Amino acid sequence: MPLIAPSLLAADFLQLQAACDMLNKSEADWFHLDIMDGRFVPNISYGPMLVEFFRKTTTKLCDVHLMIEEPGKYTKAFKDAGADSLTVHYEACPHLHSNIQQIKSLGMKAGVALNPHTPIELLKDILQDIDLVLIMSVNPGFGGQSFIPHTINKIKRMREMIDEQLLNVKIEVDGGVTLDNAKMIVDAGADVLVAGSSIFKTINPTQTITQLKAI
Ligand code: DX5
Ligand code: ZN
Repeated sequence: MPLIAPSLLAADFLQLQAACDMLNKSEADWFHLDIMDGRFVPNISYGPMLVEFFRKTTTKLCDVHLMIEEPGKYTKAFKDAGADSLTVHYEACPHLHSNIQQIKSLGMKAGVALNPHTPIELLKDILQDIDLVLIMSVNPGFGGQSFIPHTINKIKRMREMIDEQLLNVKIEVDGGVTLDNAKMIVDAGADVLVAGSSIFKTINPTQTITQLKAI
């Protein structure tokens, strides 16, 4: 049974309290919070201030996905805002090990995200230091895009690499996840499904979460 991490990016920002209430009452496991800086990705979302508000509404794990350059400059700010887990992009971190050490020293779970073109093999020597690999199944920056099919092979190979090393690293898949492709993604080895549009743009988001959970 996968963990479900709804992405609040797809919520109606004028109704955020209602969105949080719905998620809190639902079977969702994590709040997935997408931070975009307009540099690493061509879009700007929100920062630690909003994470702090989300933190106040929920006891569920706040899973913060940083799509920003120089994430090390903001690690403490997101910790102070209440992030439980902080994921940085491989492509934004020339000193990735140092970023991971910083995240862990502040008591958060550490994740590394890979863009669709980035090979999973590049994580071989950091895997033992992290809690989570986030495999992007769309190009980061926007919700509502279509799942890139070849990502499935990356998920399978990532699962093999983690299992070969007998590690307890979760695989999270983010982008274009729907009720139609969720089973294929879980069968490939995903532990955590991020879903934005396929939850918030449906008539009954709570029911969609239940259905994703039952995949
Ligand atoms: C994309 C973000 C995703 C996004 C997913 O850059 O990282 O978390 O919100 O949205 P959907 O599920 O609509 O693809
Ligand atoms: Zn995300």
